[in-house]
Amino acid sequence: MVERTPSGITGLDDLLEGGFLPGSAVLVSGGAGTGKTIFSTQFIYNGAMTSGEPGIYITLEEGAQNIWWNMKSFHWNIAKLQQENLVKIYRVGMFNPKDFALQFDEEIKKIREMVNEMNAKRLVIDSTTAFAMFMSNDADIRYNLFKLINETKKLGCTTLLISETRAKEGIPIWQQQSAFGVEEFVVDGVVNLYFRSPMRALLISKMRGTNQDKNAHPFKITNNGFEVNPTEQVLFEALMK
Ligand SMILES: Nc1ncnc2c1ncn2[C@@H]1O[C@H](COP(=O)(O)OP(=O)(O)O)[C@@H](O)[C@H]1O
Ligand SMILES: [Mg+2]
Repeated sequence: MVERTPSGITGLDDLLEGGFLPGSAVLVSGGAGTGKTIFSTQFIYNGAMTSGEPGIYITLEEGAQNIWWNMKSFHWNIAKLQQENLVKIYRVGMFNPKDFALQFDEEIKKIREMVNEMNAKRLVIDSTTAFAMFMSNDADIRYNLFKLINETKKLGCTTLLISETRAKEGIPIWQQQSAFGVEEFVVDGVVNLYFRSPMRALLISKMRGTNQDKNAHPFKITNNGFEVNPTEQVLFEALMK
């Protein structure tokens, strides 16, 4: 049996032969409000609470405040975990496009130090979309996304990279695996989240080394957090309407 990292998401590990591969990088992709931040926060929270794996939530997107609100709304006692150095929320400041490469290397260095200091086993990057906002052309975006994903993979943590898809001309949102169409090729796995009010659905479209479930499954966000129903299915046609 290959060792697995429990995702911390209720119902999801049943679709993943027990969880993520330790050290793998997984893209969590979906439109705004589909639950990407809650999914990733729960991965960090349960990692620290139940799997004994310290984690760092790196945000470029939302102020740390938003993540606190999420945690409070679900009654997750993050303050205690922070005091115990099991969880850290790290906000990356604005990059200056002029010396982007230098600042990028400095941020990676800081993150590496934090990972070593906490012995972190889990990382979240929220989001690749916000990261790419600092770049003006497609070639730069592709180059730097490859670099970001490869640098984070070297840290040895199981990593979630959030990618926020947006409506684009000619490409329906359900056909988009990622914001820039490159992230999915560098990562080991892709989890797609959909919201067609009132229905929420999750589809694992890629997972290296895993015979993952290939169907879309309904999920709920409640006061208990993110819960996938591994036994029920959602017809993909229902998401495409
Ligand atoms: N306590 C809660 N109970 C039920 N739904 C919630 C709760 N908290 C947040 N949500 C839902 O989750 C959505 C936001 O999820 P979030 O992870 O921030 O989305 P994303 O990061 O994909 O933009 C909200 O729009 C809301 O519908
Ligand atoms: Mg978010």
